[in-house]
Amino acid sequence: MHDKRFYDSALALIEGDAVEMAMHMLVGQLHSAKAEPARWQTARQAYLDHPLRDAMLEDPYIARCVNKPRGYAGDAELIDMIYDQRLPAETSARGQRFFNQSMAFPTSNAVRQRRDLAEQLVGGAARSGQRILSLACGHFREGDPLIGQDLSHITLVDQDALSLAVVRQRHGAAVNCHEANVFSFLRSAAARGERFDLIYTLGLTDYLDDRAMALLHRMVGAVLAPGGTFLLANFMPGHLSIGWIEAVMDWHLIYREPEELAGFARAGGFEPKTWHDPTGAIAWCRMQRP
Ligand SMILES: C[S@@+](CC[C@H](N)C(=O)[O-])C[C@H]1O[C@@H](n2cnc3c(N)ncnc32)[C@H](O)[C@@H]1O
Repeated sequence: MHDKRFYDSALALIEGDAVEMAMHMLVGQLHSAKAEPARWQTARQAYLDHPLRDAMLEDPYIARCVNKPRGYAGDAELIDMIYDQRLPAETSARGQRFFNQSMAFPTSNAVRQRRDLAEQLVGGAARSGQRILSLACGHFREGDPLIGQDLSHITLVDQDALSLAVVRQRHGAAVNCHEANVFSFLRSAAARGERFDLIYTLGLTDYLDDRAMALLHRMVGAVLAPGGTFLLANFMPGHLSIGWIEAVMDWHLIYREPEELAGFARAGGFEPKTWHDPTGAIAWCRMQRP
């Protein structure tokens, strides 16, 4: 009942044109509900049953995440909305205001900063001729500055054929794309004796349970060249929009602290260096063989 009254008030604010205030209050409310496991499922279900949910679906970014046209949350089209901060022209004025707010969340900034850091790293590695492997590459947006250049040293893997079609459209048909699950790709690359100097993955490990994480580290270890680097980024628990992402976006991630990432690295035989980004939403782990 308490939750329903809160959502009634938030919807009334939206209908009274106080969209931004309603969103700030809703993010805070869902954050505190998420922090109380005994309360969370009730608060989330009350949101799902409330007309506020339909109002939020006016934002094509929220609607895409909820409707999952590719069968999973967080497809590369959705991530492009965060990078480009652009919605279809037919978006309602209210939907656009919802979107503007969520693009200013620390998590959205974190996703853009993640891409920026990868852009520097991949650019530098490409210039020095390193063999680069991007796992779960999506649209390979960190490679935008490399459009038109020789990408023969870069291997891109993603399970989503539509995302790889976008990569081919941007970088040309000769780009080295593999439509595969990362695990089956790594298995066959190891069997072929392939080695890479830089292996990285962004936006993948947030979906992998601990068993799959351990397996990923072992399999990457088998194809990393001597002196090579493995880098990954994973969302951290407790960020400000943690309840919003789960209830409003229906986007369920596996959150990890930097120290947990270091644990997977050590168990996989790597020496890790971990840090978190300036937003405090994403942890990074850079690994090398001792
Ligand atoms: C959140 S997007 C991140 C895309 C890109 N790395 C970026 O940072 O912009 C997640 C991507 O991981 C891909 N993906 C998820 N699980 C995968 C798996 N097991 N094997 C291959 N690709 C996977 C999805 O198809 C999607 O393109």
